[in-house]
Amino acid sequence: MGPIIAVVNQKGGVGKTATVANLAWGFSMAGHSCLAVDLDPQGSLTLSFGFDPDAQTGHTIYEAMVLPPDHPQHHPMDPLPVETTGLWLVPANLDLAAAELDLNAQAAREFALKRALQSVSLPVDFVVIDCPPTLGILTINALAAADAVLIPVGTNYLSLRGLQLLLRSIQGVRAQINPALTILGLVGTMYDRRIAHHHDVMQQLRRLFPPQGIRVFEAVIARSVRFEEAAMTGTPVVAYAPGIPGAVGYQQLVQEVLALYGV
Ligand SMILES: Nc1ncnc2c1ncn2[C@@H]1O[C@H](COP(=O)(O)OP(=O)(O)O)[C@@H](O)[C@H]1O
Ligand SMILES: [Mg+2]
Repeated sequence: MGPIIAVVNQKGGVGKTATVANLAWGFSMAGHSCLAVDLDPQGSLTLSFGFDPDAQTGHTIYEAMVLPPDHPQHHPMDPLPVETTGLWLVPANLDLAAAELDLNAQAAREFALKRALQSVSLPVDFVVIDCPPTLGILTINALAAADAVLIPVGTNYLSLRGLQLLLRSIQGVRAQINPALTILGLVGTMYDRRIAHHHDVMQQLRRLFPPQGIRVFEAVIARSVRFEEAAMTGTPVVAYAPGIPGAVGYQQLVQEVLALYGV
């Protein structure tokens, strides 16, 4: 199994799910097979790939990761094929909301996802994990299982403020449970070029983070109503509306990430 990338930000609505959907689809379109993991009880990634979160019994992340192996409903990870070119999904639904409680009763609860992923025999080139908008046990599991973190940042002031807390949490995970975890980079999202403030925030990101050794991707993801449409059709914008700036941005991000991994 190839590199595992967790897409993380404790702020909701910054484009985590859109980033996972477009990155995973983009990898597979570029000929690199990908396993996308929905780790959000809201099941947004599952929905945006056109699956009904409540009809995936036998395949959900909850059954594979949270239910202990001796539980009658436990199921090893059994990813669903999303489309023909090498893209798979481990879906999630509201059952996963119980993970916080269920995992608390288990030993080594930070490593439940890592263990579950180890049981997957698909020879994928990349794994991309969509995290919930919290820094709770699910996100900690993603950070414990991942090789790298990708952070979508909404290009507004409030998004910037939450970043320090996120970076501290990543530092904590590195110190205590996953020393090999790296930060792949920050990617500006929801960008509107008509709003001067968005431009300022992008400039601030580029000024503040590279000197700390944190990459800011060249790709910037423009805001567009087509994202909502795409999510409703079960196809990410890179495939649904490939010409719009948001899709072009995600294609650029795909290329930048592939280049970082030398493929
Ligand atoms: N670049 C974008 N432009 C406009 N809307 C977007 C964009 N990216 C995502 N969205 C929409 O904004 C909402 C939040 O995005 P989402 O990816 O679900 O964020 P998160 O996973 O961080 O909560 C969703 O309805 C999604 O369809
Ligand atoms: Mg989401």
